[in-house]
Amino acid sequence: MIIDALALEQYDSVIELGCGYGQNLFKIFYSGGGINLKYFGGEFTKSGVEMAKKLASIEPNMRAEFFYFNHLKPKFDKKLDFGKKVLVFTCHTIEQVKEIPDNWFKIVSSIAPFVRCIHAEPFGFQICNLGEASQNHKDYFIQNGWNLNFASTLKKANQNGDIIIEDAMLEYSCGTDPFNPTSIAVWRTV
Ligand SMILES: C[S@@+](CC[C@H](N)C(=O)[O-])C[C@H]1O[C@@H](n2cnc3c(N)ncnc32)[C@H](O)[C@@H]1O
Repeated sequence: MIIDALALEQYDSVIELGCGYGQNLFKIFYSGGGINLKYFGGEFTKSGVEMAKKLASIEPNMRAEFFYFNHLKPKFDKKLDFGKKVLVFTCHTIEQVKEIPDNWFKIVSSIAPFVRCIHAEPFGFQICNLGEASQNHKDYFIQNGWNLNFASTLKKANQNGDIIIEDAMLEYSCGTDPFNPTSIAVWRTV
């Protein structure tokens, strides 16, 4: 999906927030992301950032930078040069944060003059109950203290005029865990 989005429009950089050891960014690079694009990964764990940096150092053609990032207190070092037009994405990482702050979208939308963001996060149950999977999913998230406010915070940011929601798809894939189905939300700067 990210490769398709990168093929539709030209971006200066692609940024994954909550990137772990950067596997998605490496896959994007080797699947046609190209050498003109800059790759950035923000991650909460020190081990993730260190491993991502080590892996990136093996590929001299990939312009990659990895940095500390916490969804609970989103902020970006001014030294990070993302360029003018950026594609941000998150993949099953906001799921692990009970409540993102109200300003998450405003802060992320301010990192460049044009930002488009694609979320692949399991938030379908926060919008409506689509059946047994949604209900089990909700119960699991409540029990484990996982995210319950992604959808409401996204909608508020849209209503406040901080961002424009472009698209959403609920529970479009299950991956390996039938009780953690992925939903998609796409937004951009105003
Ligand atoms: C299931 S892994 C997904 C990693 C990566 N997005 C992928 O698809 O391979 C969840 C990631 O979210 C990160 N994470 C958890 N809490 C976070 C937080 N508060 N801020 C940023 N990242 C966080 C974890 O350290 C982990 O790397």
